[in-house]
Amino acid sequence: MGIEMTPGRWRHTCDYLDTVFGDQDDHLAGLMERAVAAGLPDIAISASVGRMLMGLARMVEARLIVEVGTLAGYSGIWLARGLAEGGKLITVEPNDLHAGFAESAFAEAGVGDRVDVVRGFGTPVLEQLASERAGGVDLVFLDAIKSEYPDYLPFAKALLRPGGLLVADNMLGGGDWWVDTPEGQSESRDAADRVNRLVAADADFEAFCVPIREGVMVARRK
Ligand SMILES: C[S@@+](CC[C@H](N)C(=O)[O-])C[C@H]1O[C@@H](n2cnc3c(N)ncnc32)[C@H](O)[C@@H]1O
Repeated sequence: MGIEMTPGRWRHTCDYLDTVFGDQDDHLAGLMERAVAAGLPDIAISASVGRMLMGLARMVEARLIVEVGTLAGYSGIWLARGLAEGGKLITVEPNDLHAGFAESAFAEAGVGDRVDVVRGFGTPVLEQLASERAGGVDLVFLDAIKSEYPDYLPFAKALLRPGGLLVADNMLGGGDWWVDTPEGQSESRDAADRVNRLVAADADFEAFCVPIREGVMVARRK
């Protein structure tokens, strides 16, 4: 019999990971508090997921990263810090309040020159980027509208170079659903499940899902 993952144990695990692996400077530590005070929602990744993103970017020596879903720039700062010298993060955000806040946050964290915030919706911007930079991106991070993930997938795949990484948050759960929510009750759950299965079955990817927080799927483009 396995260990029972109670809600309390899940919370403790998240806090433990953030305490042990989530060390962060003042730019990151106070960012979401400042964002919430400015009217943004408190829905960024955790510090330990941020450290994982930075580590993954460093492992592939990322020179070009595309993120979908900027919010306040919290995950973007971790990603930008993982870039190789001279690298660039393109981060996509349709909400002007979020995009403007994030631009200031990137500048304050000292990564403003490495980040382009593109104001737009994920699917058309990814389509445009895929027509311009197919095979030229080292890491794509999806963290926007979960029900749109199946639409992002073909463009994200086209963007990645061989050896590049597709990373997606909320692949096991979100605010009001978990992967064991019955099919048909949550559009987000069904979309995440579809993308997990599509990527796992895709011979062009080597994929796994890390059950950290709400689940982070990582797939290496072969
Ligand atoms: C979960 S938050 C991103 C959190 C951020 N990655 C972080 O961890 O710091 C999702 C963001 O996606 C943005 N968004 C909403 N609709 C979108 C769309 N269709 N395409 C891209 N981004 C979208 C929201 O405005 C919000 O800022």
